[in-house]
Formats: sequence, structure tokens, C-alpha cells
Amino acid sequence: MSRRSCSIYTVGIICALLLVLGIGLMVAQVFRTMMHNRLKKEIVLVEGSRVFESWKAPPPPVYMEFFFFNMTNEQEFLNGAKPKLKQIGPYTYREYRYKDNVSMVRDGAMVSAYNTKSFVFMREKSVGDPAVDSITTVNIPAWAVMNKAKGSFWKAPMVSIWMDSTGSGFFTTRTVDELLWGYEDPLLARVAPTNPDVEKVFGLMYKKNGSNDGEFVFHTGQQNSLDYGRVVTWKGESKLTFWKSNQSNAINGSDGSAFHPLLDKNERIYVFTPDLCRSIYMEFEKDVEVKGIPAYRFTPPRSVLASKEENPANEGFCISPEECLGTGLLKVSPCRKGAPVVASFPHFYLADSKYVDAFEGINPQRTHHQTYLDLNPVMVVTLCAKHQSLTFINRKTRVLNETIFPVMFINESVVIDDASAARVHKLLTIVTLGSNFPLIIVGLGGIMLLIVIILLARDRKQKVRQTASHTVLTAFSSLAAKNMSDSVNPHTLTAPCMFVSVTVCLRAEGS
Ligand SMILES: *[C@@H]1O[C@H](CO)[C@@H](O)[C@H](O)[C@H]1NC(C)=O
Ligand SMILES: *[C@@H]1O[C@H](CO)[C@@H](O)[C@H](O)[C@H]1NC(C)=O
Ligand SMILES: *[C@@H]1O[C@H](CO)[C@@H](O)[C@H](O)[C@H]1NC(C)=O
Ligand SMILES: *[C@@H]1O[C@H](CO)[C@@H](O)[C@H](O)[C@H]1NC(C)=O
Ligand SMILES: *[C@@H]1O[C@H](CO)[C@@H](O)[C@H](O)[C@H]1NC(C)=O
Repeated sequence: MSRRSCSIYTVGIICALLLVLGIGLMVAQVFRTMMHNRLKKEIVLVEGSRVFESWKAPPPPVYMEFFFFNMTNEQEFLNGAKPKLKQIGPYTYREYRYKDNVSMVRDGAMVSAYNTKSFVFMREKSVGDPAVDSITTVNIPAWAVMNKAKGSFWKAPMVSIWMDSTGSGFFTTRTVDELLWGYEDPLLARVAPTNPDVEKVFGLMYKKNGSNDGEFVFHTGQQNSLDYGRVVTWKGESKLTFWKSNQSNAINGSDGSAFHPLLDKNERIYVFTPDLCRSIYMEFEKDVEVKGIPAYRFTPPRSVLASKEENPANEGFCISPEECLGTGLLKVSPCRKGAPVVASFPHFYLADSKYVDAFEGINPQRTHHQTYLDLNPVMVVTLCAKHQSLTFINRKTRVLNETIFPVMFINESVVIDDASAARVHKLLTIVTLGSNFPLIIVGLGGIMLLIVIILLARDRKQKVRQTASHTVLTAFSSLAAKNMSDSVNPHTLTAPCMFVSVTVCLRAEGS
């Protein structure tokens, strides 16, 4: 065999290999799309789907930790000193969540549900007994009543008389249980008989045990997988009415419990939070791993709660110009019956430093106070830690100069349970194997082809040798001996050369 025909032979084989690889890759693409379509079909909120049961009653344990800011220098503060706060907590509750009265609407394109939550105290995960530990903090009911009465010529003096007669001051000392689950406030008891919408009892979590946030209607994702879990209406409305602009009033995204499959790093994910009375968004921060499952960490950027100067899109959240707050705060009064409540991240994380500097004992740290969601990009929520801060605003008065006074913050966290993690692991492996199956076949085919070629080459070498010796034996030709070495050498050369080129191709295609 001549050198020329051998190299033609080699080039031919390489071309054939490349062709096979190319077709394989095309098939692989088709396979991946098929796998993803299958996934999109499985991840829908309908009876019998893979995700429906765990959506209705999520198996991983959710922990709700409450932290309070205890005012330790009340007297000095009233005399003009900088307020000193001490963080007390956590008081941890196991949060049980389930979807109630789940029913399909609009031919299964949407599902209606109530999200019920209840809380059971966990002593071993808490710093103390909530029935005993007492916290000194701002007297929110008193401020709420004053806030309502402000500007009213005859009501305001009446409120101060009532405050004197009931012994309500700017601050109050209450147990953790009372602050969370409610206590009868003497001032509210005074106001309630003449104001039917005022409750005698005040508590930050009053009536929240075993209750729900109202009816949600979600897309099931059956028509479009990108809509999976997206909120259509809340309490029968597709828009909020608390804020000033359409953008601020929009209900965007899911309720935080479901995200569409095949998430992209460049996506902004939206979550509608009834507690904040608005939708917020999160952006990709980094890759993480939770229980061996790869995940993207999404976190709300500073722009979400930025002041309207810093982010003009937030203008709608600023109800009246004189009440506009700086970056990092959201006044949630419009959806709390006008109570002077402000929300921010814990310890004023991501907020203007002037709020932090107004206190001693406030220390925002990203590692502790950041809100984030760790999501497996292919499938589901893996780990989610949510933080919120409930703080308290007061109007400018004789004593206090428009201070945002932190009262409490929440650390609501959930980590995927081991059983679910194992299931996700298995599914991910299937998806990965399934999408790469044709590549594996092509790879194996390539290797087998190679082995065949090497074997063929060896075989030929031997044949040539045999023919040659036969010629030598019969004709004793020295030319024949030269021919033999000629035809052997190209083969020994081309085999490793071909091997190199094939491995290079495979690697390039595989990456
Ligand atoms: C809160 O501070 C007050 C004094 O300002 C103190 O008596 C009380 O024990 C503190 N509460 C806790 C839970 O440490
Ligand atoms: C669920 O439906 C039942 C019966 O229709 C009703 O009594 C109950 O109030 C509903 N639950 C919620 C949370 O609306
Ligand atoms: C909430 O309700 C459940 C049962 O309905 C009860 O076991 C639990 O103790 C309650 N939690 C609080 C904080 O009252
Ligand atoms: C909130 O909970 C998460 C998960 O348990 C924990 O990593 C984080 O440190 C907690 N944050 C605070 C402020 O305690
Ligand atoms: C109080 O408010 C006034 C006017 O808004 C401001 O100029 C002043 O700096 C404030 N004082 C403090 C201590 O924040």
C-alpha cells in the first residue's frame, strides 16, 4: 500500500468520524430538548404531577426565628442620649405551611389556594422563654393612635390625655409572647369602642397562627412552563392598590415557593410578598452547593429598596413627598391600616448609613442579614433563607426627631430535607445522563472504531509481512525487502497520529 493511499484512507476515516460526531451532537441537542420538554411537562401544578404534593405541603422544615431589639437606656435616651439597642433572640418557631382549599380553575390552567401557616415554639432552639423574657421597645399602639390623630385639632390633645390616664408612654415593656401574639393595650381599649376598625389587642403576629394571607390564584405552568407558579391574582385582584404607580402595584412572580424550571443566571426572579405588600426581585449572586446539589444563589440587590433618587422606578412606593424615606426602607403603612410600620432588611442592611448610625448596637453584616434563595437551575428551590425586618417609624416630635426605630426582625429559613435532596439528585442524574446519552454513544462508537482501525492496521502489517517474506522466499529480491519496510512504516506512523486527532476532536466536542 502506498503512502498516498494510506493518507487518503486516514483523512477519510477522520472525516467519517467527524460526520458521526456532528450527527451525534445534533441528535444530542434533540435529546436534550426532549428531556427538557419532559421536565417542563412534569413540573406543573396539577393532581398527580411530581411536584404537586410537595407544593401543597412542603416537606422541609421551615424555621421562623424572631429577634428583638431591647432598649437598654430608656431614661438616658429620653434625656437626649443615643439609643442603645441589644439584639435578643432567636425565639424559634417551627412553621407549618400547607395549601388549603386547593382547586383547579379555568380548565386546569390555574390553581386557587390559601397558604395557611401555623407556628409551634421550639424551646431548644431559642435563647429563653417567651412567656418570661421581657423586651423594652417603642410603644407601637400609642404611636399608631397618635399617627391617626395627628393633624386633627381636637383628637391630638385627647390622645395625650388618654396616654397619661392609661400610663402609656413612648416605650413599653412587654414579654416576647405579648409582643408577638398579642396583648390588650389600654389605649387601644379606650379608642376601640368609637372606632369599629380598631382592635383592642395588639401583637406583631396577632391572629397569624393558623391563618392565611388570602386567596392566591397561580398559573399551573401547563400552558407555558415559564408561568409555573406565577401569581395571577391575590384576594381576587390582579393588581395592588396600595401604591402610586402601576409598576409598584404590579403583582409579579411567584409567592416564593415555586419557580419555573431551567432557570437562567441572567434572569431577574420576582417574588410577591404579602408581608411587604409588594413584589420584589432578586438577581444572581454566585454558584453554591446545597447538600451536593448545585444551585444559583439569588439575592435582592440594593436597588429593590433604593430611594426614588437612587432608583426612579421606586417613586411609586413613596406615597407622600414629606414621608419619603431613604434607601433601604419601605413604608408599609398603606397595607397595615395606616400603622406607622416600616420594613427593611435586618439591622438596616443595604440601607443608608444614617439609619444605622442613629443607634448603638446596630451592625449590618452581609453574612447574617442578607436575604437569599438558593435554587437549582434545572428544577426547584433547594435552600431558602428569608429575612425581614419590621421596624417602626415615628413622626417628628418634641422628643424624637423622625427616627426609624428597629423593633424586631425575622429569620425565616428552610433547607431541603434529605429525602427530597436524594430525589432531586436522582432526577438531575437522569436529566444529565438523558441529555448526554447520544454523546456517550458517539464517544463509545469512536473508541470502538479506533480499536477496529488499530486492529485492521496490525492485521495489514502482518499480512504485508507475510506476503513480503513469501516473495523473499521465492525470489530473494532485495527490492521486496525495501517494499516491506516502506509499507509497514506509514501504518505505524498513521495509527498514533490518527489517535491524536480523534482524541482532540472528541475532547473539543465533549467540552
Ligand atoms: C431588656 O432590657 C431590660 C432593661 O433595659 C432588662 O430588664 C431586660 O431583662 C432585658 N431583656 C432581656 C430579655 O434581656
Ligand atoms: C375552605 O373551604 C371551606 C368549605 O368551603 C370553608 O369553610 C373554609 O373557610 C375555606 N378555607 C379557607 C381558608 O378559605
Ligand atoms: C399555634 O397553633 C397551634 C395549633 O393550632 C398550637 O399548637 C401552637 O401552640 C400555636 N402557637 C402559638 C405560638 O400560639
Ligand atoms: C438565619 O438562619 C440561617 C439558617 O439557619 C443562618 O445561617 C443565619 O445565620 C441566621 N441569621 C441570623 C441573623 O441568625
Ligand atoms: C432633626 O431634624 C432636623 C430637620 O429635619 C435636622 O436638620 C436635624 O439634623 C435632625 N437631628 C438629628 C439628631 O437627627
